[in-house]
Amino acid sequence: METLETNRLMLRSFRLNDADDVYDYAKRDDVGPLAGWRPHGNVDETIIIIKHFIEKDDVYAVILKETNKVIGSLGIHFTTLGSLGEVYELGYVLHPDFHRQGLMTEAVQVALDEFFFVQNKDELYVGHFMENSPSKKLIMKLGFKFIEDINYQSRDYGQKETKIYKLTKLNYVLKKERKK
Ligand SMILES: CC(C)(COP(=O)(O)OP(=O)(O)OC[C@H]1O[C@@H](n2cnc3c(N)ncnc32)[C@H](O)[C@@H]1OP(=O)(O)O)[C@@H](O)C(=O)NCCC(=O)NCCS
Repeated sequence: METLETNRLMLRSFRLNDADDVYDYAKRDDVGPLAGWRPHGNVDETIIIIKHFIEKDDVYAVILKETNKVIGSLGIHFTTLGSLGEVYELGYVLHPDFHRQGLMTEAVQVALDEFFFVQNKDELYVGHFMENSPSKKLIMKLGFKFIEDINYQSRDYGQKETKIYKLTKLNYVLKKERKK
């Protein structure tokens, strides 16, 4: 994946030596469960996941430039989403020490620019579990439109009722135009 940059962040491919930074948030019970995966029990579990990210090459490490540490991840996966079939789906998590500073908004925006304008894709989906109001706020702020509720097969917690949203390239362009 191409490295992307914003004012405060760098988004780049994962490296094995990111494991300690990732474990620092992946061990917490207020991160992974909201995205459907169990907190990591030790850094070896984190290394296995990072190897998977490296192999698939569809997840960015989100790095705070000020400290050069990995503080989260952002992935765009080509996956099957219920009756919608095979689609591109956005996912993200951020270390709670850095929540509510506009950082994930910044990360997603640069990833959307790459997805729509460089990779020239037409539409992107995203979902959140019913109780995840921070993620819902972020999704609404980015201009995604609600599509439907589905039973989402989460990684570690079985099926979870999930709200699904879609952003088209056209709506993204229009939203950017309005902000100018
Ligand atoms: C969802 C998540 C990535 C948001 O990241 P973030 O960097 O804190 O989000 P931002 O600061 O860019 O905020 C985006 C919008 O959501 C709002 N928001 C974010 N967290 C909020 C919270 N806890 N309560 C209320 N509003 C919240 C912000 O106010 C902002 O809206 P505004 O600009 O109109 O004020 C982060 O909470 C997270 O990693 N949570 C744990 C993992 C997770 O839930 N992943 C998503 C699975 S679907």
